[in-house]
Amino acid sequence: MKLRLIISALACLMTTTALSAPDPSQPSWLSDAVFYQIYPSSFQDSDGNGIGDIPGIISRLDYIKSIGVTAIWLNPVYVSGWTDGGYDVIDFYKVDPRFGTNTDLVELVNQAHARGIKVVMDLVAGHSSDQNEWFLQSKEAPNLRYSDYYIWPSFKPQSGSNVQMQGGGTLLSKFVATDAPRGPFYIKNFFDTQPALNFGFANPDPSHPWEQAVDAPGPMAMRRELKNIMSFWMDKGVDGFRVDMAASLVKNDDDKSETIKLWKEDFVKWFDQEYPEGILIAEWFNPAQSTEAGFDLDFFCHDGQYNYSTLFFYGRRGRGGQEPTPPYFDKAGGGGLQTWYNLYKYQYDSVQGKGYVSMPSGNHDFNRLCTEGRTTPEELKVAMTFFLTMPGVPFIFYGDEIGLKQNPAAPPTEGSGGRAGCRIPMLWDGSANAGFSTAPIDKIYIPQDPDPDRMTVEKAEADPASLLNYVRGLLRLRKEVKALGADASWRLVSSLEQPYPMVYERKLGGERCYVVINPSAKAVTVNLPVEASKPELIGGNYRKCTYKQGRKGDTISISATSAAIFKF
Ligand code: GLC
Repeated sequence: MKLRLIISALACLMTTTALSAPDPSQPSWLSDAVFYQIYPSSFQDSDGNGIGDIPGIISRLDYIKSIGVTAIWLNPVYVSGWTDGGYDVIDFYKVDPRFGTNTDLVELVNQAHARGIKVVMDLVAGHSSDQNEWFLQSKEAPNLRYSDYYIWPSFKPQSGSNVQMQGGGTLLSKFVATDAPRGPFYIKNFFDTQPALNFGFANPDPSHPWEQAVDAPGPMAMRRELKNIMSFWMDKGVDGFRVDMAASLVKNDDDKSETIKLWKEDFVKWFDQEYPEGILIAEWFNPAQSTEAGFDLDFFCHDGQYNYSTLFFYGRRGRGGQEPTPPYFDKAGGGGLQTWYNLYKYQYDSVQGKGYVSMPSGNHDFNRLCTEGRTTPEELKVAMTFFLTMPGVPFIFYGDEIGLKQNPAAPPTEGSGGRAGCRIPMLWDGSANAGFSTAPIDKIYIPQDPDPDRMTVEKAEADPASLLNYVRGLLRLRKEVKALGADASWRLVSSLEQPYPMVYERKLGGERCYVVINPSAKAVTVNLPVEASKPELIGGNYRKCTYKQGRKGDTISISATSAAIFKF
């Protein structure tokens, strides 16, 4: 027994990643936060026009709270041209009338706060709508108030950097031909309707007069405007921002050093002083860089270097295409962990002491979890166990808690392209349009799942074994057991050569857990290091799960499509 203790103590010393304390500048509420992402057009319609709105969200706050989440991230609610789901902003200071008024937004914040829920808005920092009054003025003439908010190349160079920018494409591919007086080109950030805001260029080329330095008057005015937008909403009580395409601001910045500097030395520094309890979440898809830039957390999902796509999808966004290898979370059990592990481990190690890597259950830009043959509640429970027991701050995409199913037939809507199928309206109950809206069915924002047996919140509430109730239980457990939380260390204990089941250790102080994940439709057994004591099962959806101690090694056997959580 003594030898067993020594061996296991040594193994721990050799393999446990040292855990540093969270970044002291992060808001105090962040390490216990669990986010719920709401796509406002699709959550709850209150006025019967077929499109969700803010009063609708307010009416569902008690449900949101009941899941166990502590914060909401709202996709953009600003006045928009609706050519990119709200990411083409016409007025950064005003709520789009489809959602209500600024007063409704403040009411949402107040009502959420009364329930202990934070509200985070989307900050579209890199571009506006081409209908924004700033752009309408800028395109007319130089030397007006907003002229230098945008970039107006006088010609298109023959060649340029090959480095892909955030959102895809090289800088040259962002030149949009225009017959506007300031033409012949402007630079866009994403779609043609989204001209890039001017935060300057890294190493401006003197033969390209449109390339202003990052500290030139135009880019400096742009910085002041962005801070003003942040203050406008923070002073109304919101709790921070998820910053859209945060890596895209400085152009020609191939190694991102100027963009990192801009955030770190200006925006984040200022924001942390003004709003110490405010949060800045990056959409950068590279936490190593974004936490260096001062962001509190960043996403690790479908984009960037593949990130977690190999776990969930055939292809990067779940729509097939690249590398059609089977995903890990698939009942066939033919997937692997190596690609994901290498990418995740690098990011996880890089953010220690600086911020968090968040693996959301989904978002509005790629296929839902409930898709590609992974649609049963038990399969989804296994995936949710993974999402809610990994380090960092969890994000649940609205509806994933009930298994809202991807609609592959959803027609492209308001610039969604192939992304409409995940932006489907929430399914609440057995009434018309599942309680989402009283509008006629042909007016519903995006068609809902027509299956009469579709899961709804009402059905899920009534079934103790539902995914919803499982998620609630997991979030209660995560709150109680700090070793399952954001700051506890993480280490893969099982072997990459035998990926089913995956077993990882979570540890904080004297508390230690193993999480066992088996998405395959086969019962499996895994060999593990010798432990001094047998752990206790504290959670999971397993039908059978046993931990056996052995002289040469311990083993865990777990039933098909099962997850289990052990505590030592
Ligand atoms: C981000 C958003 C996406 C949007 C794009 C341009 O990636 O998540 O929905 O289309 O930026 O703003």
